[in-house]
Amino acid sequence: MVLPFKHEPFTDFSIKQNREEFEAALKKVKGQLGQEYPLIINGEKIYTDDKLISYNPGNKKEIVGKVSKATKQHVDQAMESAEKAFKTWRKWTAVERAEILYRAAAIVRRRKHEFSAWLAYDGNKPWGQADADTAEGIDFMEYYARHMIELAKGKEINDRVGEENTYFYQAMGPGVTIPPWNFAFAIVAGTTVAPIVAGNPVLLKPSENTPVIAYKLVEVLEEAGLPKGVLSFLPGDPAEIGDYLVDHPSTHFINFTGSRATGTRIIERASKVQEGQKHLKRVVAEMGGKDTIIVDDNADLDVAAEAILYSAFGFSGQKCSACSRAVIHKDVYDEVLEKTVKLAEDITVGNPAEEDVYMGAVVNQKQFDKIKEYIEIGKNEGELVFGGEADDTEGYFVHPTIFKDIDPEARLMQEEIFGPVVAFTKANDFDEMLDIANNTEYGLTGAVISNNREHLNRARYDFDVGNLYFNRGCTGAIVGYQPFGGFKMSGTDSKAGGPDYLQHFLEAKTLSQAF
Ligand code: SER
Repeated sequence: MVLPFKHEPFTDFSIKQNREEFEAALKKVKGQLGQEYPLIINGEKIYTDDKLISYNPGNKKEIVGKVSKATKQHVDQAMESAEKAFKTWRKWTAVERAEILYRAAAIVRRRKHEFSAWLAYDGNKPWGQADADTAEGIDFMEYYARHMIELAKGKEINDRVGEENTYFYQAMGPGVTIPPWNFAFAIVAGTTVAPIVAGNPVLLKPSENTPVIAYKLVEVLEEAGLPKGVLSFLPGDPAEIGDYLVDHPSTHFINFTGSRATGTRIIERASKVQEGQKHLKRVVAEMGGKDTIIVDDNADLDVAAEAILYSAFGFSGQKCSACSRAVIHKDVYDEVLEKTVKLAEDITVGNPAEEDVYMGAVVNQKQFDKIKEYIEIGKNEGELVFGGEADDTEGYFVHPTIFKDIDPEARLMQEEIFGPVVAFTKANDFDEMLDIANNTEYGLTGAVISNNREHLNRARYDFDVGNLYFNRGCTGAIVGYQPFGGFKMSGTDSKAGGPDYLQHFLEAKTLSQAF
């Protein structure tokens, strides 16, 4: 019997044995750095001469892997094999497909630290964050497997005398998954296995920043018994194959997580019917955020400071859910700021592939430069009260940075930075706090720290975000507990890890039989 879904527990790194086991995993992975990785098409490994080089962002000299690059011809081959595989894969029962995910989850669970160690190199993820990333990947597999079995039963509709009506779900056809680098295991796993367990073959184009950990996932799914052609691994230049994957007339869906610019581009392109295309494409696009924590005058200020700190600086703020705006009631503004700065003083910055630190390096030179630019912008828009240092000599290190007295309309309060920078702004009352919280084009996460139930109830409806949290931080959604997805320009509100997610990759069919 399959046990009910329960989320994968996190590793407690205050326990010496856990630390030692993690260090052993880091050492094991270090011995495997610099290897070459192929594309995978129709179960075949294809090595190309042109390679994508993945570096450790915390140590630019360290090559994590050299990954083959797919061309348009490879996309065509992969699509052909996906169409062939679809004919049989769609007819596997939900239980049979789910069993592949259970097995894949079990394989990852047995090698959990090894996967997290790859994240420490490929994305320079700190230990606790990497461990949560791996756990979330396991959760996605366990959750979607169970959910597909439920959905395969269809839904109840009404019969009439002499007529039986049935409502059930079926797979759509091959599609494309384009995941981000910031949850380089979890989101890659979730956005890939969901359409697959629903019966659709997937062409996976991982981020060029973190292709090695994505390859490791594909390896696991193959080991778990996924038939050839159901999953193709197609790393490559977005400029070379990105549009081509989206535009392909045989693509049925695009499951994208990443920037607003790319997401809206995909939505636009997918809406154009290509020659030979006989269906409409669906797009799931989870995009950016400019997420706010509101602190009310009667709030627990320690809870507030901790929530801001963890949400702003966990994984260096490189989460679409990260808190980049702290909107604080004027009566408690100075105290919350002071408490947050005090906590930030203890943040350690270093290379998680070498040591257990709070923050690693940011992902690449482009992001490093962008964050540095925003720190300069912040100095003109308000007052730098903490941090501001950035050093890219060995890796792309940016220190936790706090600005105060930033105008709600300032660039620092409006534009997504995707780095460890948080802007504080003062408000006169709860109405103003809500207005400021809603004044961006994004609507992903938000939190309210308050002990005023009337205020919390107003926020319940008026704080316009897909994931709203009360008296806690605004990051760290857990599969099956906090289905995740945003409003407004943050995306299509797909609610990953929730009960409505798989329907994005299924067609509902009505069968009416007259007897
Ligand atoms: N799901 C993550 C979080 O909640 C962000 O992608 O932090």
